[in-house]
Amino acid sequence: MSLGIALCVAVASVWFSLYGPGASAQTNAPTSLPPQAVFVDPVSVAVLGESGPFRNSSFTQFFNPTNTSPPFFQVFHPDFVTKVLGTSASIRQIASNSGFAFAHEAPIFLPETDEVTFASNDGGLLGFSDLNHNNRVSKINLGEVARAANASGSKTSPLNVTVTALSLPSPIQMTNGGTGPFHGQLILVNSGRGQLPPNIALVNPASPNNATVILDNYFGRQFNSLNDVKIHRQTGMIFFTDTIYGFLNQFRPEPLIPGQVYRLDPTTRRVKVVADGFDKPNGIAFSEDGKTAFITDTGSSGGFLGNNQTEPATIYAFDVDPKTQAFANRRVFAYVDTGIADGIQLDTQGNVYSGTGDGAQVWDSTGTLLGKFFLGTVSSNLIFAGKGQLVILAETAIYLAEIKASGFDLAFPQ
Ligand SMILES: *[C@@H]1O[C@H](CO)[C@@H](O)[C@H](O)[C@H]1NC(C)=O
Ligand SMILES: *[C@@H]1O[C@H](CO)[C@@H](O)[C@H](O)[C@H]1NC(C)=O
Ligand SMILES: *[C@@H]1O[C@H](CO)[C@@H](O)[C@H](O)[C@H]1NC(C)=O
Ligand SMILES: *[C@@H]1O[C@H](CO)[C@@H](O)[C@H](O)[C@H]1NC(C)=O
Ligand SMILES: *[C@@H]1O[C@H](CO)[C@@H](O)[C@H](O)[C@H]1NC(C)=O
Repeated sequence: MSLGIALCVAVASVWFSLYGPGASAQTNAPTSLPPQAVFVDPVSVAVLGESGPFRNSSFTQFFNPTNTSPPFFQVFHPDFVTKVLGTSASIRQIASNSGFAFAHEAPIFLPETDEVTFASNDGGLLGFSDLNHNNRVSKINLGEVARAANASGSKTSPLNVTVTALSLPSPIQMTNGGTGPFHGQLILVNSGRGQLPPNIALVNPASPNNATVILDNYFGRQFNSLNDVKIHRQTGMIFFTDTIYGFLNQFRPEPLIPGQVYRLDPTTRRVKVVADGFDKPNGIAFSEDGKTAFITDTGSSGGFLGNNQTEPATIYAFDVDPKTQAFANRRVFAYVDTGIADGIQLDTQGNVYSGTGDGAQVWDSTGTLLGKFFLGTVSSNLIFAGKGQLVILAETAIYLAEIKASGFDLAFPQ
């Protein structure tokens, strides 16, 4: 055997013992990482062994093999660094209130005032809202965040900016979804409370926060508890989901209509169903070109009925029919490993971001998990807020990640 061949055999056997059969050494690894990132090579965790630390609960046990303290970026694929984070990404808390789930859902970015609005948990843990008490819509100002960040002299130390409550009129009950701006107004989707109907309303983001309800029934029948909403930017149609969390969180009556996805023409007020067959349809988003729709099914999260991890925690993708805008060709896009996929957003590269049980997770357009904004706690939704800024709602806290990727403008008209 020549020296060359002997060397090759030796190198190959070392490689084999390190990575095992079928492993492609190093091809998985990013060349460099931002400071708050850890790389978890899928090869290194593909086999945990007979006494491996397997997780039994999707909701209370996290997948954190490096045992890193949150918040951090958990990288599973080099594209998470090259396309999403960049190498100087940072993440930190920007507001918190450990006693109140003030930052649950309905995030809306308002570029003109550099504000983000959001709603507190409606009917759930630490939400302080129920059959007899409405939830709260509040806002933060990202200019104040930038000033506090600058004054802190650090990219990672926690900040605590002012959270200002909006004073909303009485038809706005149990806000759970939001998007826009739509002709300069917030679109809020409200779950209703008791017999007060779920509805979709346009809300003035400025004081006095006056509102106009644009839909509160389906040919005379109440919805169950409206959940989330997006504008299809190419047509200006409003798409929204209806599910049963108002009932499961004990502030709405028994469901009387299937959980499904609707399309509302805001001008003619014609409303129709575009997708059904879900357990609990929840978050909604469109690709930037408007040709693909994404719906999360939070079936495994069951409120007072308890969680059931054999039910969906799944993001489905659909083609948006160009003529009818019915959702066609339903397929599984991704199944989340922790908790549920809740509110979703896309970036300009077609990557999909969802609030989940351990923070926010990101998949590329083929449904491969690229990595996580690992918070070690639930996020229900998130929103891009200007170039390279991702605001992540985490119930009792809000995080800001400064990254390479950006969202596209969700406003209508553009
Ligand atoms: C999962 O359940 C098994 C069987 O009860 C138990 O041995 C194991 O310790 C549990 N794993 C964790 C991480 O709790
Ligand atoms: C942030 O400010 C809010 C409102 O003043 C307060 O309730 C909360 O405790 C503060 N959080 C921290 C971590 O100090
Ligand atoms: C950041 O801080 C520096 C020095 O403290 C100050 O000169 C600058 O104006 C600040 N910038 C912003 C955007 O607050
Ligand atoms: C709020 O009131 C102003 C002034 O009357 C009106 O122009 C605007 O359309 C209202 N907004 C909503 C959402 O009702
Ligand atoms: C969980 O859901 C599955 C599928 O719907 C069902 O068969 C099972 O009985 C449920 N388990 C519990 C504990 O409710």
